[in-house]
Parts: sequence; C-alpha cells; structure tokens
Amino acid sequence: MIPKIKNCFSRSSPKRLWMLLVCVILSMTMFPGCQTSRDSSPPTLRVGVALYTQDDTFIATVSQNLERMAQDTEKEKNLKINLSIADGQSNQTVQMDQVDRFLSRGCDVLCVNIVDRTAAAVLIDKAREAQVPLIFFNREPVANDIQRWEQVYYVGAQAEESGTLQGQLVADAWLADQERWDRNGDGILQYVMLEGEPSHQDALLRSEYAIKALVEAEIEAERLASGTANWNRGQAAAKMSQWLSELNGQIEVVFSNNDDMALGAIDAIEEAGGDSPLVVGVDATAPALEAVKQGKLYGTVKNDAEGISRAMLDLILALTGGTDPSEVVELEDGHYVWLPYRPVTKNNLSEFLEGYVA
Ligand code: BGC
Ligand code: CA
Repeated sequence: MIPKIKNCFSRSSPKRLWMLLVCVILSMTMFPGCQTSRDSSPPTLRVGVALYTQDDTFIATVSQNLERMAQDTEKEKNLKINLSIADGQSNQTVQMDQVDRFLSRGCDVLCVNIVDRTAAAVLIDKAREAQVPLIFFNREPVANDIQRWEQVYYVGAQAEESGTLQGQLVADAWLADQERWDRNGDGILQYVMLEGEPSHQDALLRSEYAIKALVEAEIEAERLASGTANWNRGQAAAKMSQWLSELNGQIEVVFSNNDDMALGAIDAIEEAGGDSPLVVGVDATAPALEAVKQGKLYGTVKNDAEGISRAMLDLILALTGGTDPSEVVELEDGHYVWLPYRPVTKNNLSEFLEGYVA
C-alpha cells in the first residue's frame, strides 16, 4: 500500500492525483479517530441533561430552549454540542440509572433537574468521583448538599419572590375593583389554593408568600380549601370541579402554584359554567399567556425559562472552556445563579409575547 501511495506522489498524472484524493477521503471517513490535529472538525462537548419528567410544560420549555440555544452556539463558535436529554419519568431510581450511564459514557458536564431533592448528595458524590461538573436546575437541593463540592451549581429562581408577586397581583386587582371580585360583599377575600408537589421548594413558598402579600396589603382573606395537584392540569381540573360543587359559588380567587394547574382550574370553571373567580398562576408558559390574552387567566408570574437555559449554557461553556464561571454568570456564594420573576397581566402582556422587542 505504502509504495503505491509513493507512486501516486512521484508520477502525478491527473488520474493518479484523483486516486490519491479518493484514498485520503476514504481513510478519513473509515478511521475518523486517526485524523490529525490539523483537521477542521470542531471540538465536541458532551452534555447529559436529566429531566425529572418530560411531561411538564415548564420543564419541556426549558429543555427546548436549551436545545435551540445550543444549536445557535454551535454555529457561532464552531463547536459541536451533544446534548443527551433523559426523561426521569418522575422516578428517582430511573434518573439515577440515567446519570450513571451519562457518567460511564464520559460526559463533560451534567445538568440535573432532580426528581427527589433529598437524593442530591449521592448524585453529587458520583459526579465528584468522575470529576464531572454538575449543574442542578429548577428543583433545588438543600444548601448543605450544594456545598459538598465546589463544582456544583444551581440555576433557578427564588420561590418567595414569585409568591409575593402573585399575591401583589391579586391584591392590586382586589383593591382596584373590590365590587367585582368580592362576590358575597363581606369585605373578605375567599380563596382556594392549588399546590404543586408537596416536596418542591416552589410549592411551599409560593403558597406562603402569596398570602403574606395579601396580609401586607391589609386584605382580610379566608382559605376555603387547599390541596396538591402536583403541577398537573388534569389533577387540578379534578380538584377544582370538586371544590366548585362543594363550595357552591363561594370561591372568589383561585391561587395556583403554576400555570398548568391554573389552566386546569379554568377547564373546570368553564365546564361548570357561571361567573369565573379571579385565577392566577406562575410561569407564563405559552398556553397561559394565551389564556391571559383571552381574559380567562387574570395574570401570572414569569418564571424565566429562557434565562435558566441561557445561564446553564453559559455555565456549560465556561466549565468546559477553562473560564471562571463567575465571569459569565452572576454567581452567588460561588454556586447559585438566580433569575428574577416578573408579574404579567393583560396590561403588560405584549412584552412577553414572541417577537416583542423592548
Ligand atoms: C414550575 C412548575 C413546574 C415545576 C417543576 C416550577 O418552578 O413553576 O410549572 O412544574 O417547577 O419542577
Ligand atoms: Ca368575600
């Protein structure tokens, strides 16, 4: 073989040059690992992304944004970013296997939307042993776990803030038009509360801080019912139907820890017919913005899905490119990236619809 190639070089007729070219191309496609460092193929980043479930509107939005932004970055930076996305099916054992697989195949960074927040320590120790930086997002492990290793990060938003903003939104509506919302005219705001998963930081804190904001606005409130619908539209519709029939016209406000459940409540209200109470959610997902536009959802609080994806990608690039993460994102305590929430009603809706330019 070698003398033949030498021959190709020594007697360079056009036909022989063509043969040489074919030989080179063939050997490059058959043995890609043998390409020299002078070839132009871009470096590849391998990123494992473990979602608690793919069947969640907000999480699906974060993951789609991440894919889109990674594709844009590939073009801009002559990089290849291999995102492997795994659906944890709300099962920590399933997710742990997925993480083990990512680590054993050799990924460069791990992004985890953990199913069970109390399982974080085990996961962190696995990542540390493999020396693979770990970015948690949206479901926050306790601070003690985050501090187990300096290469652990959390990207999310502060739940208290969303609760406060949601409560303020309701307080403003109530004070602006109490006659409309105070159905029984007793001066007291009667409400129901649809809660997310009981173990999720966002569920507990949103419920608590929404009501604190009413107290601060000096609005007297009475809780008629509360219960979990696990962030889920169908479960929320079922719960709301039950409350509508049990509470017979007494509900004046529906607080929901997220938009999917608020939309579930609206499904039940529409099914039952009659006047709608004031309904509020959190997230500002696409279907929720549509419901605000139609006047079915009074308002919501934007949970910055794009901001979360952007910060994760910036961290991924910094961690794999040898840049100090604090140069690309605002890091609190060396571990946390916090995205701000923003209230949304019909009044400022246009700022949140696609194509809006500030
Ligand atoms: C969102 C919910 C979502 C949950 C999943 C929350 O921050 O508001 O819509 O279901 O995260 O972890
Ligand atoms: Ca009342």
